Amino acid sequence: MPMRHDFSENLMSLQSHILLEEAKHPSASGDFTWIISAISLAAKSIANHVRRARLSGAIGKFGETNVQGEEQQKLDVIANEAIMRCLGTRASVAVLASEEDDQPTILRRGNEGGKYCVLFDPLDGSSNLDTGVGVGTIFSILRNDPHIPDAQATVCQQGTQQVAAGYVLYGSSTIFVLTTGNGVALFELDPFIGSFLLVKDKVRIPAANKVYSVNEAYASTFPDGYQRYLSWAHANGYSSRYIGSMVADVHRTLLTGGVFMYPPTKKNPEGKLRYLYEASPMAFIMEQAGGLAYSGERRTLEHQPRQVHERVPVLLGSSGEVEKVREFLR
Ligand code: AHG
Ligand code: MN
Ligand code: MN
Repeated sequence: MPMRHDFSENLMSLQSHILLEEAKHPSASGDFTWIISAISLAAKSIANHVRRARLSGAIGKFGETNVQGEEQQKLDVIANEAIMRCLGTRASVAVLASEEDDQPTILRRGNEGGKYCVLFDPLDGSSNLDTGVGVGTIFSILRNDPHIPDAQATVCQQGTQQVAAGYVLYGSSTIFVLTTGNGVALFELDPFIGSFLLVKDKVRIPAANKVYSVNEAYASTFPDGYQRYLSWAHANGYSSRYIGSMVADVHRTLLTGGVFMYPPTKKNPEGKLRYLYEASPMAFIMEQAGGLAYSGERRTLEHQPRQVHERVPVLLGSSGEVEKVREFLR
């Protein structure tokens, strides 16, 4: 199509980008595109709820405790419902697994179709909502194995099996970050046209940056190697940045470099962050951006989960910074 006038308006939407990506894979059937479309729709709804929470009375505690043993915020429940409703209508989804639900939800059995499983943390960092701090949604897309009858077993796959992963950050703007295994793309919501528009394709994390992100309040109960790393960092000009929302901390690390970690602690001997919908998707994104991600000695993506809500230690970020921490852990 010849360019008639160059108004240089960005019209490369998330949908257009996915369709272009899909065109590169002749075997792609379009099912996958509908899943991303559903997540995008849910994200716009969640962004609206998050940004108007105080006006609509959606702020504060829901009054119940979830399977994690954490008090649910009203917006945890609202976000969970939005994603379940948007994804529930997509024929290509077989199983949904959420941080907020004890068990995965089976939407379709193997012979009813449903090529994919979608796992998600509907609202990450929700304890920060009352103070206006950035929160997010994290998602991971796996292939459904119709021969495995048990939903829990179907979703407990290594991160290397992910078809796609991403997050939405409800921060100073609404950012959608996505990888389908072909690099990392960054989109920003244009609220005036209601579309996520491509801001940067092939995002790369800087190889080094003297910033570490960890909750140092628990440092005395970290394994010794982490404590020795922190002492070294204190003596070598490092800065510390910790927001307490994984999506916000990881997004900053992706764009500016550095290292984010949630080590084992006395309270959470396996670490606090959950593998299937926090560590695994974020590790996929980090590696696709040229970074690294480890859970203990093992590459995070090669961990084999046994339970839906299984927790693992998280160490991710710039390759140079992650390797520096690993030197102390050996
Ligand atoms: P969620 O709100 O989904 O439960 O996740 C909270 C997580 C993660 O966002 C963050 O990195 C971590 O909790 C912060 O934990 P601490 O307050 O223990 O540092
Ligand atoms: Mn979370
Ligand atoms: Mn959450």
